[in-house]
Amino acid sequence: VLQAYRLLEDRGKIEARPQSGYYVRTRFWKPPAEPDISRPATTSTKVNIGDMVLRFTQQVMRPDVVPLGAAVPGPELLPTIALNRLAASIARRAPRASIGYDLPPGNERLRTQVAKHMFNAGCELGPDDIVTTCGGQEALGLCLRAVAKPGDTIAIESPTFFGTLQLIELLGMKALEIPTHPRNGVCLDAMRRAVDRNAMKACLFIPNYQNPLGCRTSDDCKKALLKMLAERQIPLIEDDIYGDLPLDGPRPKVCKAFDKHDLVLLCSSFSKTLAPGFRVGWCAPGKFRDDVIKLKLYSTLATATVPQMAIAEYLATGGYEHHLRKVRKAYGENIERMSRLVTEHFPAGTKLTRPAGGFVLWVELPAGADSMRLYDRALKLGISIAPGPIFSAKSKYANFVRLNCGLEWNDRVERAMETLGRLIEEGASA
Ligand SMILES: Cc1ncc(COP(=O)(O)O)c(C=O)c1O
Repeated sequence: VLQAYRLLEDRGKIEARPQSGYYVRTRFWKPPAEPDISRPATTSTKVNIGDMVLRFTQQVMRPDVVPLGAAVPGPELLPTIALNRLAASIARRAPRASIGYDLPPGNERLRTQVAKHMFNAGCELGPDDIVTTCGGQEALGLCLRAVAKPGDTIAIESPTFFGTLQLIELLGMKALEIPTHPRNGVCLDAMRRAVDRNAMKACLFIPNYQNPLGCRTSDDCKKALLKMLAERQIPLIEDDIYGDLPLDGPRPKVCKAFDKHDLVLLCSSFSKTLAPGFRVGWCAPGKFRDDVIKLKLYSTLATATVPQMAIAEYLATGGYEHHLRKVRKAYGENIERMSRLVTEHFPAGTKLTRPAGGFVLWVELPAGADSMRLYDRALKLGISIAPGPIFSAKSKYANFVRLNCGLEWNDRVERAMETLGRLIEEGASA
């Protein structure tokens, strides 16, 4: 039997999946075209997506749905047992420290570990450069408030993570959406025009493995962007939450690594790599550090102590790099499987990104498809997706969806993709 399997594998009829067995290969697979560079409006706008995102976030994590909507890694792929054990043993070993406040800048051991780790991303940071936060979302919010005030214009990629849009809305700022290429990131020519025409107060970009596009901005473009911003002293809030998750090759550098003018406020968290519910994030806000610390004290006072201690211990002793290698491989395989299923089940004319890292796919359905309607209909059948309009300040991307590939692969996922394909076809002919 084994010989037969090997022969079929050599002929490309079946494939071996580690620790799982042999599977029949899809016969012929050519990925569909990629979406074009985005063309958002050239003027800044107030953001009003709060209600739409609220409706989405309340449903997306329901335990009974196939979670293709949330960009959250499946707990099976995370070092769940190791982290929980560490948290429990820390609480036992250091009962007093673990229930006390750990005031900003936050847990020193964690800051030291983060600084060491970011050396891989080209950054020479020390523990004092870092402030720990309640997840990446708090880091982004603190940095935004440190550099801009209500009414100010913030440049963002288009499409972009809806949490960024929510913050801009909450803080009464305006969003200026910049055309973004699905492989190369923010378009520098468009950025130059936007800088020339607008009173831009700051930028908030995701240069490494952008959400939802999965693209990476090259080092040369990062340098050129920083040069352009330095001419006008415009700060860049750099969201690097997916930076540790390349699908191939080494961990990319961050813009902060090229920051000669102390204008980059680097933000990240461990939500995509270790434990979203621990709510541990951080930022390296450069010259805005004191403002960030003050804002943190005024808002959430401190980051929860035990999760910070557990993550610090895991980084120091737990094999973080080994874990990253494992999940990158799983995410890469899932992205390929999901891309094949899109090709197989979604209508002709569907377009698809080729992410370089992270674990989401951005899918452009044929013109006329309505992703909000698809979201409602899929949810009734126990499947969540992220509809395109939540990634835009002006409710664009009506015919786009984002799919999560960061989950443990199983038959439910395959069936859900088949169902989605059917719903899209039905929607198209309705
Ligand atoms: C690009 C990006 N930034 C920030 C966040 C928020 O991260 P956290 O859960 O650590 O607050 C997310 C979560 O989805 C994200 O995708």
